[in-house]
Amino acid sequence: MAQTFVFIWLLLIFFTNLVSSLTQDFSFVGFKRAAPNIILTGVTEIANTGAIRLITDTQRVIGHAFYSLPIRFKPTGVNRAMPFSMSFAIAMVPEFVTLGGHGLAFAITSTPDLRGYLPSQYLGLLNSSRVNFSSLFFAVEFDTVRDLEFEDINDNHVGIDINSMESSSSTPAGYFLANSTKKELFLDGGRLIQAWIDYDSIKKRLDVKLSPFSEKPKLSLLSCNVDLSSVLGDKMYVGFSA
Ligand SMILES: *[C@@H]1O[C@H](CO)[C@@H](O)[C@H](O)[C@H]1NC(C)=O
Ligand SMILES: *[C@@H]1O[C@H](CO)[C@@H](O)[C@H](O)[C@H]1NC(C)=O
Ligand SMILES: *[C@@H]1O[C@H](CO)[C@@H](O)[C@H](O)[C@H]1NC(C)=O
Repeated sequence: MAQTFVFIWLLLIFFTNLVSSLTQDFSFVGFKRAAPNIILTGVTEIANTGAIRLITDTQRVIGHAFYSLPIRFKPTGVNRAMPFSMSFAIAMVPEFVTLGGHGLAFAITSTPDLRGYLPSQYLGLLNSSRVNFSSLFFAVEFDTVRDLEFEDINDNHVGIDINSMESSSSTPAGYFLANSTKKELFLDGGRLIQAWIDYDSIKKRLDVKLSPFSEKPKLSLLSCNVDLSSVLGDKMYVGFSA
């Protein structure tokens, strides 16, 4: 049994709503302080460092860490998703270099209760009934296995998943230097990786950036045109799944 230890350090979400000039800041910086409000399922724990530790393995263990309180993604009475910016840091450390788990996904879902969902290639977000899936989700997957079933591009990619594990957009994991040079980044190389997800509700564009450094790169690794208004409900749950 080969395990991958997934560590997640902090999650920050900032909303800026131009319509009602309401700003909602949300953070669980240091998961330890937020511990009472985090629903942990499967093999999951909060380490002394304040990191969430999810364990995935080839035996299909599943871990979830979701914030138990719903977060508002649309202003009251307005059917338009608010713009947001979020950031978190992850590290994936496989027990054996050649046999890792399946990676992890950051997810925004309509339910925090994902018990019964399938691990591994489904990253804990879907069960086998792919067609009649009742809850909605939006996810950014950090996938370290190539699943031909979902037409994955390779075994080290970042993808945007909307109500399906077939990514609507994906690209090999990497980051951009200040001079626009793209560098490869191995997701399960044990290295600390920072991720930024930004949604622009005017341009209806979602941008994902990664870096092994704390400075946010100028260029996006993944950019896709999507109107999250039809994907997100008024209030949704955020968390990680592996
Ligand atoms: C699959 O998910 C659906 C929707 O959440 C649920 O109703 C169903 O019971 C699940 N099936 C299994 C086998 O877990
Ligand atoms: C999926 O939906 C079909 C038809 O609505 C139903 O017959 C089937 O039992 C559902 N499967 C699951 C796993 O819920
Ligand atoms: C970009 O910067 C890196 C690191 O400073 C350097 O190694 C590389 O040669 C540069 N590439 C170009 C095209 O300037």
